[in-house]
Amino acid sequence: MNPKDRIENIAIYAKDKNNLALDEYPQEARELNYRWLHTLRVAQYGKRLAKLEGANIEIVLAGCLLHDITKLSNVSKDFNHGRAGAKMIRPFLKKLEYSQEDVENICYSVASHVDGFADFEHPRTLEAEVLNDADKLDRFSSYRTVLSLSEFANKEYEEFISAVENRVKYLERTEKEALTQTQSGKKAFGKQIAVQMAYLERLLADYEITALPNL
Ligand SMILES: [Fe+2]
Ligand SMILES: [Fe+2]
Repeated sequence: MNPKDRIENIAIYAKDKNNLALDEYPQEARELNYRWLHTLRVAQYGKRLAKLEGANIEIVLAGCLLHDITKLSNVSKDFNHGRAGAKMIRPFLKKLEYSQEDVENICYSVASHVDGFADFEHPRTLEAEVLNDADKLDRFSSYRTVLSLSEFANKEYEEFISAVENRVKYLERTEKEALTQTQSGKKAFGKQIAVQMAYLERLLADYEITALPNL
């Protein structure tokens, strides 16, 4: 099977699991839909970072499309969802004519994407690092900033502003945590946070000038 067909098969496999979950758990539709859209963006970020880092693009894309498979299919949502996902996808990957080494690299990338640990022996790989960074980039996207503030948008202005201040503090803490593992990921993450900060600071600056000017 050629790489293009393999990636298409993987995308279909992931979306099929997502569709089944949507049928079975309609009350979870918002989260399940979000998870698929997140998966697509992580794949885009992953492709970009893989090129910059010289990682194997096909392995990174496969990992990105499958990294949250247990969340996509509503099987597991906790910090073990990566390790559970690796177990789920291994038999499927073997059918796609990947080498044993590639199967293990994809499974390791998926297993370790949450906290850096797999529950089987495998050396760290560049592809796993790229997947980790792609996932973290989408966790701090502009859309996530909007989502974090949306529930406060219709509240009193002061309450909204205190939510903005809390978000600023959260992003400041996040920046110090150094969640990324590659140079390109670190750079992109820094930019991602800076964009959010600039917007949040503008919101706070507008609050500061919400007063009658002195003559
Ligand atoms: Fe995840
Ligand atoms: Fe994710």
